[in-house]
Amino acid sequence: MSSRRLHVGSENDLIFSPKEGISKTRLLLLLAASLVVGFVAGILIGRYATQNEDHSPPEIPDVSLPLVRDADPTISKKILDAIDPARIEANLRYLSEKPHIAGRERDFELVKQLKKIFVDSGMYVQITPYDALLSYPSDDTPNSVRILDGNNTVVYDAKADESNFSNYEGVVPPFNAYSPNRLVEGSLVYAGYGRVEDYIWLAQNNINVSGSIVIVKYGSIFRGDK
Ligand SMILES: *[C@@H]1O[C@H](CO)[C@@H](O)[C@H](O)[C@H]1NC(C)=O
Ligand SMILES: *[C@@H]1O[C@H](CO)[C@@H](O)[C@H](O)[C@H]1NC(C)=O
Ligand SMILES: *[C@@H]1O[C@H](CO)[C@@H](O)[C@H](O)[C@H]1NC(C)=O
Repeated sequence: MSSRRLHVGSENDLIFSPKEGISKTRLLLLLAASLVVGFVAGILIGRYATQNEDHSPPEIPDVSLPLVRDADPTISKKILDAIDPARIEANLRYLSEKPHIAGRERDFELVKQLKKIFVDSGMYVQITPYDALLSYPSDDTPNSVRILDGNNTVVYDAKADESNFSNYEGVVPPFNAYSPNRLVEGSLVYAGYGRVEDYIWLAQNNINVSGSIVIVKYGSIFRGDK
């Protein structure tokens, strides 16, 4: 079987090229195995990095020796040799170099490209279209946050774009997915992480958040629960 090369992006961006001498099927098996081996190897390297060089398996209490011993040590070398960090880097660059919000054109381009990579590697891939309700920000009327003083003068106006990165085509302006369009005004109350105990603290200190805009910071709990 001939070695096949797959190009993604420009001609120079070699993404995936099985090495000479390893058939495609074999390489796929090796890649699958490498996930498992890599995980186990990571643990063992971390724990036994200072182990002597004679390749004798480490002794782990309550773990059977054949489980941690290489049946054929040349296999793990072959797997490690087949993994090229430069290709991982190129793949990551290709996937992340352009904005690809779910459901829009670039996202679908990546779907088709991933399909091609898998199909060229001998796998069967099916793309299933389905309808989903997604929310997108308006390009014409971007979201904004303003702080007004007692005379309704704007003292702070948050950027509607994200500085220099907004110059890339297709960058999505800041928005809160699935939030309805609305202009809301109110006094500002800071509520820490927005946890139940934060609101209890506010109530205990006679701060009533009713009718106010509450500002909370990321972290501590899942943002969807804030
Ligand atoms: C509002 O305007 C008045 C009159 O110009 C001024 O005296 C006052 O300081 C202003 N208040 C604020 C919060 O800027
Ligand atoms: C953003 O652009 C401005 C000028 O347009 C420049 O001075 C600044 O260094 C840039 N910042 C970054 C992070 O590239
Ligand atoms: C908070 O304020 C709202 C509206 O002003 C009021 O209805 C509510 O009773 C207040 N809550 C407490 C605990 O004082």
